[in-house]
Amino acid sequence: MSAEQFDGERVQAALRTPRLGRPLLWLPTVDSTQEELRRQLAQGAPAGTVVVADDQTAGRGRRGNVWYDRPGQDLLFSVALPADLPREGLVAVALGAYLAEALGHETRQDVRLRWPNDLVMGFAKVGGLLLEVAGEHFLAGVGINVAGQAAEIARQVGRPVTTLQAGTGRALSREELLAVCLNTLDRAAVQLAAGDRGLISRKIADLDALRDRTVTVTGPQGTVEGTAVGVALNGALLVRSGSIITEVTVADEVTVQAD
Ligand code: BTN
Repeated sequence: MSAEQFDGERVQAALRTPRLGRPLLWLPTVDSTQEELRRQLAQGAPAGTVVVADDQTAGRGRRGNVWYDRPGQDLLFSVALPADLPREGLVAVALGAYLAEALGHETRQDVRLRWPNDLVMGFAKVGGLLLEVAGEHFLAGVGINVAGQAAEIARQVGRPVTTLQAGTGRALSREELLAVCLNTLDRAAVQLAAGDRGLISRKIADLDALRDRTVTVTGPQGTVEGTAVGVALNGALLVRSGSIITEVTVADEVTVQAD
């Protein structure tokens, strides 16, 4: 556990959004911030509610994966986004792109989005986004490896994983990062609700870590190898093999080949 207690007031002071982060509930440990947020909403908590934890005992990622954390060293939160977002596949990818861009600005590093929801520095995953629906709300759950080294997580997941500190050489405040994420998600939600698909598609393209990479896709139709050529307006990954373009959905498994 971190020696420093999470400082919710520091987050509130850095919030530029009237909609997200009020209320903000911090817990030293919880099963999953997604589950706690569901419970809070069931008891009448409003849109914008945030649950943040130092540690999760049942943190989860996409596709039923376990989300590992290092207590007090990672940023683990869930936020109930307002109900005015379109319910379509592009939303999750777009939110990830906005977060990658914001983390890049904050760290002055090249943080990108590896479709659909991985936040990466180079090949190594530094965070992820899980978007779920609860009634009329979207629950955006974000995990970011902030402090120290991520060797233990990398060993557990068997893939390259890093932390913002390892990538930047700087210690970053989880509170300030949370405020940056909430300010960013609010701006993203407003732009998504306004439906400016051109702006959103350009942002996704600019931050696309898979573009021009060779990828292998495994889905119900079998395995396809090809080159990632972008993200469609419905949020699907576009993979070209010869003259055929395949739309890959989030249900498919995508692996990226090293150059
Ligand atoms: C992924 O990359 O697979 C998405 C990971 C999302 C992890 C976060 S941590 C906070 C929130 N609570 C959870 O149980 N999961 C998300």
